[in-house]
Amino acid sequence: MKTKQKIIFATGNSDKLKEVRMILKDSDYEIVSMKEAGIDLTIVEDGETFEENALIKARAVSAASGVIAMADDSGLEIDCLGKAPGVHSARFMGEHTSYDVKNAAILEKLSSVPDEERTARFVCAIATVFPDGKQLVCRETMEGRIAREVEGKNGFGYDPIFFLPEYGCTSASLTPEEKNRISHRGKALRTMCALLKDRQEDERS
Ligand code: IMP
Repeated sequence: MKTKQKIIFATGNSDKLKEVRMILKDSDYEIVSMKEAGIDLTIVEDGETFEENALIKARAVSAASGVIAMADDSGLEIDCLGKAPGVHSARFMGEHTSYDVKNAAILEKLSSVPDEERTARFVCAIATVFPDGKQLVCRETMEGRIAREVEGKNGFGYDPIFFLPEYGCTSASLTPEEKNRISHRGKALRTMCALLKDRQEDERS
């Protein structure tokens, strides 16, 4: 059996790690958490774009470990709020504020906004940084709109208020498999897998 190449996924978020492992389970790579790799770093995500933040995290972990590191940066863009919370999604209303409170505040803010102006998207940028400094970056989105009320028990974060018109429910009502098939992170990870394959093929030729 072919040994899988290790990639450290730069996150402390166990929900994300679970999604990443599920999506990459049939790839040529084994995803190792920072904890499993013995890496304990505080990384300041001060980039202005999702791509910059993903690169900041992947560069820091690759430099600290000497192996390949992958990181994502994701968030929710709400069009009628000027694409907020955007890159500040995790920190919106304070990092330690519960998503019940954050989601209720967004619903309240948008209470008089009509359906057609409630458009929103989840964005995910993924960066992979190699020990030689080379890097790969990609971005994908999942389009939807802000629901009228919270719904669903799956997922995390803003999933209970993210309505998917073609499914008639929020992303918190999808099973993890359904969400991974259409999500920003699922699509970005599959795009990143294809970029990694291309790189391997280029190296072989
Ligand atoms: P990051 O860890 O800096 O990428 O922060 C991403 C933040 O965006 C999360 O903490 C969530 O608030 C939000 N987010 C990103 N992806 C999702 C998702 O799939 N569902 C719900 N919220 C998400």
